[in-house]
Amino acid sequence: MLEAKNINFSYRRGIPVLQDINCKINDGEFVALLGHNGSGKTTLTRLFMALDHPRSGQILVDGNDIVKMEPADLADKIGYVFQNPDLQILADTVFEEVAYGPRVKKLTEDSVKKQVDDALEAMELTDLAQSYPRLLSFGQKRRLGVASALALGPKTLILDEITNGQDQAEKAKMMEYLQALNEKHGVTIVLITHDMDVVRRYARRALVLTDGKQVFDGTPKDLFEGSYPVENWGLRRPLASVLAAAFQVSASNCHEFCATVAKEAK
Ligand SMILES: Nc1ncnc2c1ncn2[C@@H]1O[C@H](COP(=O)(O)OP(=O)(O)OP(=O)(O)O)[C@@H](O)[C@H]1O
Ligand SMILES: [Mg+2]
Repeated sequence: MLEAKNINFSYRRGIPVLQDINCKINDGEFVALLGHNGSGKTTLTRLFMALDHPRSGQILVDGNDIVKMEPADLADKIGYVFQNPDLQILADTVFEEVAYGPRVKKLTEDSVKKQVDDALEAMELTDLAQSYPRLLSFGQKRRLGVASALALGPKTLILDEITNGQDQAEKAKMMEYLQALNEKHGVTIVLITHDMDVVRRYARRALVLTDGKQVFDGTPKDLFEGSYPVENWGLRRPLASVLAAAFQVSASNCHEFCATVAKEAK
């Protein structure tokens, strides 16, 4: 469980980046964190991972204040995938990259190998285990970031814009995988994204930040099909919501929309 209580944060004195944020993310949720560029999404998740600490307020992970913690203390609870995959790369092979977390945790070599093999297989990177990470394609680096985050079997995954730079097929595969992790294994997913079609289709809750303030907490359906000023918040309504509103039906994706309209036309 992740909880932000009355959070205020600034990188530099006098310029507030997060203001009075209060939110709780329960185990098993699939939450999209949304907002315009610079609204504070990455900053908020960095606080959950103890990469930074708030100027005031509290961040709780499973009920514990993390003010004295460092990212390594949280690595087996929360897997974090960075917005820029190049920033995450530390090792010389894909295998060693994914092994980094398990090695810091001082797991036995057998456990390290098992954890890494499983994570690589899940992200379809097994054949690239001995490759140099920086030479991977952008999409492969994204998957490598997710594999590294998965390697310690965390119960929460925070993913910062991981569908950027991926084609439709890669994106769909990644999202189906995250959905299965969430539904079958109960992994909590916090997804930062600018892709509203992904939000409408996969997320069950949306949090919206604007200029460091929380302006919405509810379902994607309410967000996009209600009367909220989503465009003013820098969000684009997903195609399925635009079509659904025009035809006065409800649909979370274009496939569902077509099926509903076809059924009603009969
Ligand atoms: N290391 C830093 N030092 C100073 N200011 C920063 C730093 N990182 C971010 N900021 C500023 O903090 C604000 C919030 O940035 P943040 O990266 O959290 O936004 P974001 O919602 O993730 O944006 P994007 O969608 O572009 O990734 C912005 O005004 C940004 O310029
Ligand atoms: Mg960001």
